[in-house]
Amino acid sequence: MELNSEQIRKDFPILAQKVFGKPLIYLDNAATTQKPLSVIRRIEEIYSTINANVHRGVHRLSHLATESHEEARKTVQHYINAASSNEIIFTNGTTDSINLLAYSFCRSQCKPGDEIIITTMEHHSNIVPWQIQRDILGIEIKVAPIRENGEIHLEDIEELISSKTRLIALTHVSNVLGTINPVAEIIRLGHNYNIPVLIDAAQSIQHLPIDVQTLDCDFLAFSSHKIYGPTGIGVLYGKEQWLEKIPPYRAGGEMIAHVSFEKTTFNELPYKFEAGTPDYVGSSALGEAIRYIENLGLDKIRRYEEQLLQYATERLLQIEDLQIIGTSPHKSSVISFFVKGIHPYDMGMLLDQLGIALRTGHHCAQPLMDALGIEGTLRASFAFYNTEEDIDVLVEGIKKVVKIRSAASPLPTPSLR
Ligand code: ALA
Repeated sequence: MELNSEQIRKDFPILAQKVFGKPLIYLDNAATTQKPLSVIRRIEEIYSTINANVHRGVHRLSHLATESHEEARKTVQHYINAASSNEIIFTNGTTDSINLLAYSFCRSQCKPGDEIIITTMEHHSNIVPWQIQRDILGIEIKVAPIRENGEIHLEDIEELISSKTRLIALTHVSNVLGTINPVAEIIRLGHNYNIPVLIDAAQSIQHLPIDVQTLDCDFLAFSSHKIYGPTGIGVLYGKEQWLEKIPPYRAGGEMIAHVSFEKTTFNELPYKFEAGTPDYVGSSALGEAIRYIENLGLDKIRRYEEQLLQYATERLLQIEDLQIIGTSPHKSSVISFFVKGIHPYDMGMLLDQLGIALRTGHHCAQPLMDALGIEGTLRASFAFYNTEEDIDVLVEGIKKVVKIRSAASPLPTPSLR
């Protein structure tokens, strides 16, 4: 394997610890990623040396903090190849980015009866913000189905397009199924009908190269904490012409040009969408996380994680009665599964005792669970600091749990409805 995971793991102090006396096997990277020392140190450095409010003071510290925040915006711009740093809006995370867009887009671009297309595999954060606007504005949500192996097909989306469609909003990678959606084709399809497209990149930004100009997406959202940066900060990318067209979401300091009691005019991009003191420490640390990824090389990360996915899939399928949910050949390093006869929650709890961290449950995708006819799954999600040995420990752990549970009778019914 091209990446030296033994060396890389030294950059992530949290991975060296023990849980219940067992070495931590962290396989919950789709929920959040661990942070390298460079990111942790950057946070400490800012608070210890340059902390001051940005865009406000004439003093030296304010200048340095502003520089750090704006440099981070440029780092994000270059990472996703946006045409301008004005197109990078800092938010609290993917959820906040989609809420911003749902509010600002629907209120300015939609009238009653207009339609937004989403898909069955969306995270709640790409469903509920649209529902809130639907209920206020009288718009409609159309949902594209998924195929048996967990894929979205272009023709299923095309079938939903009508003269009333105003936006297509879909995830790049499913946080449950791991499916990598054909977003380039879907964006082209939308544009053939003059429909803009939002890509939820929460589960792709850390795994796949994203070039927003090549993709030609109109909007893209992601969170820093999924890409080895701190929590509480994220990004909404939007094409400049769209961001000029839609109104601000939050109001307050910084997003204004001039305020009087009669009338307020708004600041230019990107500040129009950044009310209040921004998280300049978070943005700077996100910039550091992106530099870390770039130094490793996203291509190498991708190849390494593909090998982990393949190895884990093969090894897990050797376990009797284990079923993987999401079998598209185009997958990111996420595996949802369950073992017949064992509730995912029980399995997750017992694996935790062995130091193995997985996510269990509906993964904030209840409509997808309904469509699959299940209540939940276990989910193992891999990052470049995971190893084949981690997967071996997981497989042995599952076998151990199966053995313990088989000894206990009667077996509970599985989570399958
Ligand atoms: N969206 C995150 C996950 O899938 C929290 O776990």
